[in-house]
Amino acid sequence: MAVETRAAIDLGASLAQALRYVNAWKSKTVVVKYGGSVMTSGVGRADGDTVIDDLVLLKGAGVDPVLVHGGGPEITRMLERLGKASRFIDGLRVTDEETMEVVEMVLAGRTNKQLVSLITAAGGAAVGISGKDGKVFVARKLDGPEDLGQVGEVESVDTTVVRLLSTHGFVPVIASIGIGQDGESLNLNADHAAGALAAALGASKFILLTDVPGILPGAVGGQPISTLRAEEARHLINDGVVSQGMIPKVEACLAALASGVPTAHIVGGREPHALLVELFTEEGVGTMITP
Ligand SMILES: Nc1ncnc2c1ncn2[C@@H]1O[C@H](COP(=O)(O)OP(=O)(O)OP(=O)(O)O)[C@@H](O)[C@H]1O
Ligand SMILES: [Mg+2]
Repeated sequence: MAVETRAAIDLGASLAQALRYVNAWKSKTVVVKYGGSVMTSGVGRADGDTVIDDLVLLKGAGVDPVLVHGGGPEITRMLERLGKASRFIDGLRVTDEETMEVVEMVLAGRTNKQLVSLITAAGGAAVGISGKDGKVFVARKLDGPEDLGQVGEVESVDTTVVRLLSTHGFVPVIASIGIGQDGESLNLNADHAAGALAAALGASKFILLTDVPGILPGAVGGQPISTLRAEEARHLINDGVVSQGMIPKVEACLAALASGVPTAHIVGGREPHALLVELFTEEGVGTMITP
């Protein structure tokens, strides 16, 4: 058989498979957490970055993606410019009042609006809000052995505004900031916030895009683990295989799964068309965690 014919047959098979998946995913909600670590150069569009295009294509195909974002590196850069050092305890940024102001300016201001710009420029329509808007994330101050200042945890989620935006053709873009009882701003871990939103929306899939291709089995590289059950994932935290920034991701996956989200995925955000491959192929990419 001519090479061209073989290639055409393969392409046809791929297209048929993809179209079957496209139909299956129509009107389904997919919560995507975009890690600050992959939003390269302060969310300017980096060469080969396909996340934004994929979101727009998914929306066009009738899927309802909801984007939750962090922005750690950008916040750190801005604090540096203001002569303020960043301090982390167990991966959480110690957030005094002045730091919270900067967090809110950068996340809900710059990063959030740049994501809206990128989606719009790619032919989509997005509305950027923070978790304070419409009480998407009502939060309380995190209680722990150390006082982290205005670091919060999600107390309740109101999905009204998110659903409203999704059903009217917009991609909701949500900065991980919560609102407290007295209207104060609370700095939320974006992984946890996204997991809570996926649960509250009854999402059909929860995808965390990060700077590694999935959960790696050891400290020194290797291929990502392709599937894990919730229980096995919990063991990886206890064994120390999953550490640092990967801990809140796995926790967020476990919380979403416990609330009925069928599958959660940790995926490399720099892999070409990771979102499309994850949704529209049998094989998927990265690490899938199941209940
Ligand atoms: N077992 C593991 N497999 C893969 N990565 C791991 C593992 N254990 C720890 N990590 C670390 O987790 C990091 C990903 O989390 P990180 O918080 O840095 O990124 P992010 O959440 O995508 O970005 P941001 O927190 O800025 O929004 C990886 O870069 C890696 O250093
Ligand atoms: Mg992180």
